[in-house]
Amino acid sequence: MAIIAPSLLAANFLQLQDECNMLNKSEADWFHLDVMDGRFVPNISFGPMLIAFFRKATTKVCDVHLMIEDPGNYAELFKKAGADILSVHIEACPHLHRNIQQIKSLGMKAGVAVNPHTPVESLKDILGDIDMVCLMSVNPGFGGQSFIPYTLQKIKQLRAMIDERGLEVKIEIDGGVTEENAKQIIDAGADILVAGSTIFKSADPIATIATLKAI
Ligand code: DX5
Ligand code: ZN
Repeated sequence: MAIIAPSLLAANFLQLQDECNMLNKSEADWFHLDVMDGRFVPNISFGPMLIAFFRKATTKVCDVHLMIEDPGNYAELFKKAGADILSVHIEACPHLHRNIQQIKSLGMKAGVAVNPHTPVESLKDILGDIDMVCLMSVNPGFGGQSFIPYTLQKIKQLRAMIDERGLEVKIEIDGGVTEENAKQIIDAGADILVAGSTIFKSADPIATIATLKAI
């Protein structure tokens, strides 16, 4: 059974309390929170201030996906805001190992996010130090894009790398996850499904979450 992590990027921000209540009632496991800086990605979303509000609105895991440059400058702020898991992009971190150590020393779980063009082999040396890989199945920056099919191969490859070494690293898939492709993604070896549009644009988000959870 996969961990379901709705991406609040697709929520109705004029009704955030209702959206949080809905997720709290649902079988969703995590809140996936997308931070964009307009530099690493061509869009700007929200930062620690809003995450502190989400933290107050739920006891579920707050999974914060940083799509920002220089994430090391902000890790402490996100810890204070209430992040449980902090993911940084490999493409934004020339000193990735240092960033991971910092995140862990602050008491958070550490994730590494990789863009569609980044080979999973580039995670080889950091894999033993992290809790999660966030494999992007769309180009980061926007919700509502289509799943890039090649991601399925990357999931299988990464699953093999993790299992060969007996590691506990979780594989999270982020972008374009639907009720139709979720099974293929899980079968390929994913542990966590992020879903924004599929959940929040659904006529019955709680039922959609239950469907994803039951796969
Ligand atoms: C994209 C974000 C995703 C996004 C997913 O940059 O990292 O988390 O919200 O949205 P959907 O599920 O609509 O593709
Ligand atoms: Zn994300």
